[in-house]
Amino acid sequence: MLDFVFHNPVRIYFGKGQMTKITDEIENGKNILITYGKGSIKQNGVYEELMSVLLDKAKSLGKKYSIFEFSGIEANPTYETLMGALEIIHSKRIDYLLAVGGGSVIDGTKFLAAAAKYDKGDPWNILLKRGRGIEDALPMGTVLTMPATGSEMNGNSVISRKSTKEKFAFFSPHVFPKFSILDPTTTFSLPEKQIANGIVDAFVHVMEQYLTYPVNSPIQDRMAEGILLTLIEEGSKIFANRGRDKDRNRDRDRDKDNKQTYLKDYNVRANIMWAATMALNNLIGVGVPQDWSTHMIGHELTAEYGLAHAETLAIILPSLMHAMREGKSEKLIQYAKRVWKVEKIVETDKDKNKEDKIIDFAIGKTREFFEMMGVKTNLIDYKINEEAVNIIIGRLEKHDMTKMGEKGDITLEKCREILKNSL
Ligand code: NZQ
Ligand code: ZN
Repeated sequence: MLDFVFHNPVRIYFGKGQMTKITDEIENGKNILITYGKGSIKQNGVYEELMSVLLDKAKSLGKKYSIFEFSGIEANPTYETLMGALEIIHSKRIDYLLAVGGGSVIDGTKFLAAAAKYDKGDPWNILLKRGRGIEDALPMGTVLTMPATGSEMNGNSVISRKSTKEKFAFFSPHVFPKFSILDPTTTFSLPEKQIANGIVDAFVHVMEQYLTYPVNSPIQDRMAEGILLTLIEEGSKIFANRGRDKDRNRDRDRDKDNKQTYLKDYNVRANIMWAATMALNNLIGVGVPQDWSTHMIGHELTAEYGLAHAETLAIILPSLMHAMREGKSEKLIQYAKRVWKVEKIVETDKDKNKEDKIIDFAIGKTREFFEMMGVKTNLIDYKINEEAVNIIIGRLEKHDMTKMGEKGDITLEKCREILKNSL
């Protein structure tokens, strides 16, 4: 195992009705800016519940907050939108930020937390310097409504800039949320598309920290495999049988009923939510090599073509597994055996290229899992054709992503191969 330092200061309140704990966390008299997205929290009751905590419950405790709001933070939050919120922070002397939503709202709020205290010029420098130079930030809490990014329990943030079509990530220990509320019932209003996107994102987070080379780290490996298996199990409860049995009405009706049941199942939501948080709260990534190249290539696809984050990952990961199979072979085989239980299937296989077949099987299963949830795995599914290859290679080169991967061997040539395989 590699050496590591682990510190995660985020207090998690997990379960039904945990929003009431916010008054324990935020001191009396704070000027709070609530940040949110395009309005889902006003339709699913989250906003109402939050207001009753911040106003009524606070009052019953003898606390009084001044509350301000900033809405309209978009999926893939932009610098341009967020600079509007920064003005409010300064003019209203905001001293606590409360992000209510998915990863985009939380990431956007982390940027604001850092930007509010940033005195080294244009806050975009935070992104250009990947978070280096941040010395302080406003305190923030989160109410998570979409399991996916793990942003609720990490110090990462990903921000886009419309004018330059850029999407960069930064990390700072100063932007860890002080607390995060994870109430799985807030996720019942998610469209199926977003549930699927969240599962794919969490799945790929695990893979980026797992699919490298062995360093004798059985705890991290088994935790990673546990998260993957949970995502597959819970995801399959909701999405399995999608589109199958077209001619068999009885089975189709039964599958539909099962799906409806699972869509309303608290435990399914709870397991997906905790799996997504655990996938990127640094725990499984300590002491092991990591490879974030699927994300790096994916960010360029989002910046250029506007694809959702998870859509880009589902396209790139299977092709990357294929192109990098040599360097990653030991972990690929472990993944095939432990996650997809491949042994039973190839036991009788006398073929010389048994290892290759095992790896192909694992790649196929991964692709099948994403497709089963309705997340496509080819660029052409989004009407993106061959000219994208040169465009994305150009972007990666410009952004200095020329030696990615745990061994620095995902060169531009390899990226070209990966992108071509993704068409
Ligand atoms: O705008 P609102 O109304 O909030 O609607 C959102 C949005 O349309 C909706 N939604 C969220 N919760 C809902 C809901 N709709 C109904 N009911 C609910 N309970 O879902 C849509 C997508 O939300 P978004 O926050 O964009 O999704 P996600 O959580 O996947 O975040 C994606 C962003 O996170 C970044 C991505 O790059 C992307 O910008 N990432 C952040 C990471 C991190 N901080 O560690 C790591 C990730 O790899 C990722 O890069
Ligand atoms: Zn991600």
